[in-house]
Amino acid sequence: MNVTVSRKGHFNAAHRLHNVNWSKEQNEITFGKCSNPYYHGHNYEVIVAVKGPINPMTGYTVDMKLLKEIIKQEVEEPFDHKNLNEQVEEFKNLNPTAENICVVIYNRIRARIESSLKLKITLYETPRNFVECEDE
Ligand code: NI
Repeated sequence: MNVTVSRKGHFNAAHRLHNVNWSKEQNEITFGKCSNPYYHGHNYEVIVAVKGPINPMTGYTVDMKLLKEIIKQEVEEPFDHKNLNEQVEEFKNLNPTAENICVVIYNRIRARIESSLKLKITLYETPRNFVECEDE
């Protein structure tokens, strides 16, 4: 029996959606207000879900304390109150859309979770807009 263990994290961050190879007009047509050169912010919510068997020695699928610490180190500390485009290495040349932020978070956390466990990331950019990414 596999069990899914989830923990929520939160960060506030600024971003701008922009393609440097496009004209101002093309950026505005594609990204609208999100291409504002002065940036704008979101209150992001992230759900990290880890799925796998229960370890009979501990009764845990994954230690929640460890999951909390990983989210803090890999997401909250590097992203909270940051300008994602300017201050987070992965977005120097990557548009910080919800999709791309979700994949960056997935990659950071995947590297910290045992490979035998499945990982799924859900990222809320607004209470109504969210994206998901998970192991293939
Ligand atoms: Ni936005």
